[in-house]
Amino acid sequence: DGPAATSGPDPFASEFDLSDPAFITDPAAGERWLSGPRPVCRGKFADGSDIWVATGYQDVRKVLGEPTLRSRPPGDSHRQSMLSRGVPEDIVDMFDSTLLTMDGADHMRVRRLVTRALSARRMQALSPAIARVAERLLDGLAAEPEPDLIAHYAHPLAIIVICELLGVDEEYREQWREWSETLAQALRPDPEQFAPAVRGMAGVTRKLIDARRAAPRDDLISELVEAQEDDSERLNDDELVALAMVLVQAGHETVRNLIALGALALLQHPDQLRLFKENPGIGDRAVAELVRHTAPVKHTFRRFATEPVEIGGVTVRPGEAVQVVLAAANRDPAEFEHPERLDLTREHNPHLGFGRGAHYCLGGSLALIEGEIALTSLFDRFPDLRPAVDPAEIAPRYLLAMQRFPVLLSPEE
Ligand code: HEM
Repeated sequence: DGPAATSGPDPFASEFDLSDPAFITDPAAGERWLSGPRPVCRGKFADGSDIWVATGYQDVRKVLGEPTLRSRPPGDSHRQSMLSRGVPEDIVDMFDSTLLTMDGADHMRVRRLVTRALSARRMQALSPAIARVAERLLDGLAAEPEPDLIAHYAHPLAIIVICELLGVDEEYREQWREWSETLAQALRPDPEQFAPAVRGMAGVTRKLIDARRAAPRDDLISELVEAQEDDSERLNDDELVALAMVLVQAGHETVRNLIALGALALLQHPDQLRLFKENPGIGDRAVAELVRHTAPVKHTFRRFATEPVEIGGVTVRPGEAVQVVLAAANRDPAEFEHPERLDLTREHNPHLGFGRGAHYCLGGSLALIEGEIALTSLFDRFPDLRPAVDPAEIAPRYLLAMQRFPVLLSPEE
């Protein structure tokens, strides 16, 4: 499957070019890169800069566990790239240092607080609210003349759950939802919309912070405000606002993708769908397998070398960037038996769908709960659910998530 990366020019390097729109939209190119491991090789990032690309399970594990590989882009490049995309300066400042682009002690400080606030107890406590949201959205789906599983279910569910988690009051939710959609385009933001959305969200978050400081409730903002009182780990209000927005970004498209891709995968594997419906207790393991198989997040942010580091037989030099393709690592036959198979009962499943190491997903347990409730409720309510169009038409491309998922709900349609 391709020559060793060290044996001369790599024939695949030019094919992995995220700066080429054709690569991003070409289903065949995407499929090649997502469907399994290759030797570490060179590629191009969206901005045209060179990257190393790791796709094999062990290579990806090594990259994500390697402390000398940093998440913060070197120098001022992160700021500059946002500025060059037209994002206003004050907003760049807000996004310049978020969990995902922090390292070391600073990262640990913020991460500890968020970990505490996203406790298993809080996630479990959200379950009844998630179930209520799912039921309400399913009522709406049934009333739609052209029901779409993304627009009318997966997408709003993911956003409303983040609102429930943070404690965003009802009066702000509709607006919050519009802002969230704008924020989700952070990779290619339209500055005209992006700046007002971020400012609006920051304004509401500040109001919520003040309100919860005066009268705490059982929500994440209250908990983070309370954690501010702890002198040793202080988060200032700006950091708290930025954090709320990172949670929106991290927990919104990801969950939307999990629900949509998960539903599609189950519909395409009727035996697994039957297993899922007939075994309510299978939830956690089943959704983990859906994360492995569908890879709602195809790859992580880049990592930057601070010292020479060897990955899969190549030496990554200081300043060079590495991109890992989680989707491919999760299909590595050296780690997973019959990786192409969707097997909800898979016992050995150390998938990397939530990343690994210092930046391991903080919302993983919430995502599993959401995925389980959303999919169980969906198939309970509509046992005859099926795609209304050829799945090939709506399948995701390499970097483009599934945009629509028209469905038929009843058997007579
Ligand atoms: C980080 C995947 C849902 C919050 C990550 C990373 C991955 C990931 C791969 C690591 C990124 C990197 O190393 O560069 C997913 C998937 C999800 C999901 C597949 C759903 C199926 C959520 C949810 C939340 C969340 C629901 C919050 C409510 C975060 C945060 C980080 C993160 C805060 C940053 C952690 C850090 O940098 O220390 N996620 N995520 N995620 N995720 Fe998730």
